[in-house]
Amino acid sequence: MAAISWSERMSVGVPQIDADHKTLVGLINHLHRAIGDDEEYATLGSVLKALEEYADHHFAREERMMVAARYPSLAAHTRGHARLAQEVRALKERYDRDRTAVRAKDCLDFLHKWLIDHICSVDMDYRAWVVGHEGAAAAAGEMSITGPRTEGAAPFDWAGLRLLVVDDNANFGQIMRTVLEGVGVRDIELAPDLEMAKATLERRAFDLMVADWHVGAESGLELVAWVRAHPRLGRLPVLLLSGHERLRNRDVALAAGADEFMEKPISARGLLICLLRLLSRRAKEEPPA
Ligand SMILES: [Fe+2]
Ligand SMILES: [Fe+2]
Repeated sequence: MAAISWSERMSVGVPQIDADHKTLVGLINHLHRAIGDDEEYATLGSVLKALEEYADHHFAREERMMVAARYPSLAAHTRGHARLAQEVRALKERYDRDRTAVRAKDCLDFLHKWLIDHICSVDMDYRAWVVGHEGAAAAAGEMSITGPRTEGAAPFDWAGLRLLVVDDNANFGQIMRTVLEGVGVRDIELAPDLEMAKATLERRAFDLMVADWHVGAESGLELVAWVRAHPRLGRLPVLLLSGHERLRNRDVALAAGADEFMEKPISARGLLICLLRLLSRRAKEEPPA
């Protein structure tokens, strides 16, 4: 089955909703590419988890927007969302229990059908009610996958974040890119090995680095040690990821100089919340001059 290309024909005319739909399309395409991947379990698990979270988040955003627009078919649309969310959840649970129980092709067939039937048909039906409706646009903009904002707090400026992702697994790097672009990050560089990562860090400034524990035959821990010893980069916030479940990994990562540690498969929401926590902690440590 071919990957899906986003086209304007799929636009519902509300930028936040289109952005969610693009993220969902991107995740489904990653699922496609993850089949047969070296780290298939971690990659597929991360894609399914992200899909589950994005589906929940997106449906809540869309329902809020339809309420604001007084869309007459809200109840039927919401029931459709509940059925789809349940099917995605069931797929993820079956995969978690026994990865051989979920046939990748069935999974893709379902998700493609979901996109074509739901985004291109059911979602299109509300277009006329929400386009140009100020209250609907405001309602769509209030939601964030990282959870409700503190009252009065400005939304985090994801668009201004400069981020380096170091992972030899191209599929995993692309999943990270989709999740991050989904919240508005524009400046993401991917480095597949330590040499490229170091050269990229020497060449330009970043606000954050996310690195894998194993980068090919090399060690992400070595890269963290290099960063910490670097005269200019010593304070760069670092999140280290690991695809290997070992109890002491977190302690080893933090002792090596990482600020945060997460295990794959990663949760999209968990990743974004972890990055927000890390950046706000660093901002408090180093208030602007
Ligand atoms: Fe939708
Ligand atoms: Fe929908």
